[in-house]
Amino acid sequence: MAPVRHLISIDDLTDAELHALVVRGAEFSAGTAGRPAPLAGDVVGVYFSKTSTRTRTAFSSGALRLGAQIIAYGPGDLQLNTGETSEDTGRVMSRMLDVLVARTASDPAEMRAWAAQDRMAVINAMSAEEHPTQALTDLTTLYRQFGRVEGVRVLYVGEGNNTATALALALTRFPGVEFELRTPPGYGLPAAYRERAAAQAARHGASFRERHDMTGLPGDLDVVYTTRWQTTGTSKPDPHWRSVFAPFQVTPALWETSPKAVFMHDLPAHRGDEVTAEVLDGPASIAFEQAENKMHSAMAVLEWCRA
Ligand code: CP
Repeated sequence: MAPVRHLISIDDLTDAELHALVVRGAEFSAGTAGRPAPLAGDVVGVYFSKTSTRTRTAFSSGALRLGAQIIAYGPGDLQLNTGETSEDTGRVMSRMLDVLVARTASDPAEMRAWAAQDRMAVINAMSAEEHPTQALTDLTTLYRQFGRVEGVRVLYVGEGNNTATALALALTRFPGVEFELRTPPGYGLPAAYRERAAAQAARHGASFRERHDMTGLPGDLDVVYTTRWQTTGTSKPDPHWRSVFAPFQVTPALWETSPKAVFMHDLPAHRGDEVTAEVLDGPASIAFEQAENKMHSAMAVLEWCRA
């Protein structure tokens, strides 16, 4: 029997798997994937301990479209709340489910504990450190927009959160990519991920840079990307954090030197915070195509897990 495939971090994927998932997601998005039902007869558990509109719907709808049945669990449903261990939870669920799609507020250790069995695939639908299925969606969206990921020039503006981390781990594996982050001081990528992304970029012929100001921005960008300032499930202890973030709002001024750039946002958005309504709802924005691609990319991930 083939080993179970888990997706807890972008680092769980080989380069070939990462490329194949991006292309396959784009095929689902373009309507050229046919109507496969590789999950027929499967049962997929969908456990979200934190709020979600896109990811939960994407995996639920995607699993149903691929032929699976789903069981949905909310934050109060599992005996994890009463002290059952993550290991026991994974052992039990793996005897009844084929795939578990989960969002938690904790670090990857909890998901790794669920994955410590050989029957059920575990998919990280966002954890405190990383949002890998968002990165796959984003690369699928780039592939649909540009016909490639290689060589794209991306400026990420905003917090170095779990979306930024996954994006850095994924983009820096593609030759010629130029990925620059502008993150508020004190709110950058965690150091370990920054170092990993930089080393990976060097190995793959990509470039990676992070700065904590908005001066000397690169021009001729392909993409300007931001995320909301208050990541799901988090809060900021500093009462003055908004003044630190204010210079990092995405406004039309960013398009003066990058007139052809598209705008991406993982959503949900707060117009007037991280981005102006003029940008999010303007002609450069592909944020809602990106949101739809969550489902197409989720289908590629589910298919890969069960291959
Ligand atoms: N981008 C994203 O993960 O959206 P949801 O929180 O709505 O799933």
